[in-house]
Amino acid sequence: MDAAYLKNKAHRVNEFLSHYLQCIEVNDPNLHQAISYGLLLGGKRVRPFLVYAVGEMFGAQPQALDYVAGSVEAIHAYSLIHDDLPAMDDDALRRGQPTCHIKFDEATAILAGDALQTLAFELLSDAPLKPSQQVQMIKTLARASGYQGMCGGQALDIAATNKHISLTELEQIHRHKTGALIEAAVELGAIAANASEQHRQALRVFAKNIGLAFQVHDDILDIISDTETLGKPQGSDEAANKSTYPALMGLEQAQKKASILIDQATTALDTLPVDSQQLKDFAQYIILRKQ
Ligand code: IPE
Ligand code: IPE
Ligand code: MG
Ligand code: MG
Ligand code: MG
Repeated sequence: MDAAYLKNKAHRVNEFLSHYLQCIEVNDPNLHQAISYGLLLGGKRVRPFLVYAVGEMFGAQPQALDYVAGSVEAIHAYSLIHDDLPAMDDDALRRGQPTCHIKFDEATAILAGDALQTLAFELLSDAPLKPSQQVQMIKTLARASGYQGMCGGQALDIAATNKHISLTELEQIHRHKTGALIEAAVELGAIAANASEQHRQALRVFAKNIGLAFQVHDDILDIISDTETLGKPQGSDEAANKSTYPALMGLEQAQKKASILIDQATTALDTLPVDSQQLKDFAQYIILRKQ
C-alpha cells in the first residue's frame, strides 16, 4: 500500500483529535490524561484511513472527514481500553505502553472508555455535514459499536474462552467484535460523500471481507509476531485459551482463509467506476502487516 498515504492520514487524524481534546474543558485532569493516553498514544489508525480513503474516492470534504475518522477511532480506542481490563483480556501492554488501567487505575480506565464512546457521537454531531447525514452516521456507528456489533462480539468472545466452539460461531464473534467497526468506517466514509446505494453495496462486500480478515490476521500475529513488534503481549490468546482461527483450523489454514477473504474484498471493488487501487492495496496490507 501507499504507506505515505496511511502515515499522512494517521498524522491528520491525530492532529485533529489532539486539538479537539485540547479544546475540551478539563474538570478532572487525571481522566483527561487517561483519555488522551488511550486515544493518542500510537496505533495504526486503519479505521480513520478507511473513512478518508472511501470518503475522498467519492468526493467528500477532508475537513468533514476529520470528524468522522476521529469518531470511529474514538470508539476503537474505547474498545481497546476495555478489552485490556482484568475482567476482559487482562493485558498489561498496548501500543508498546502500559495499558490504561495499569498506567492509571481500573476506575479511570473504565471512565476513559465511557468518555471516548460518547465523544465519538459528539464528534459526529459536530461534523460539518447535513443533519440527515449526521443522523445516518450516528445510527450506523451506534449499531456497529453496541449490542449488535462490537459489544455483542466481545460478549461472545468472552463466553467462548476456555471452550471449543464451531467455525461458524467463531466467524460470528469476529464479524461482530472487529468486523462491525471496520464495516462502519467504510459506510461512514460513503455516507459523508453521499455515495450511491449501488456503490455502497460494493463497498459493503469489500468491508465485510476485510473486517473478518483483519481479525483473522490479528489472531495469526498473536502467534507469529513478537511482543516488541506488536506492542502488545504475543501469545496472549494462547495463554488465555481464546477461541481463534489458528486455534480452530491451524495456522496455515487460517492464513489461507485470510487470503481468500482479501481476494473477495478486492474483487468487489472492481464494479466501482472510480479508482480503487488505494483500497486494494490496503486490503493486501491487512494480511501482510507485522503489527
Ligand atoms: C487491534 O486493533 C484490535 C482489533 C480489533 C483486532 P488494531 O490492530 O487496529 O490496533 P491499533 O489501533 O493499531 O493499536
Ligand atoms: C479485540 O480483539 C477486539 C476489540 C473489540 C477490541 P482482541 O482481544 O484480539 O484484540 P487485541 O489482540 O487485544 O488487540
Ligand atoms: Mg479481546
Ligand atoms: Mg485483547
Ligand atoms: Mg488479538
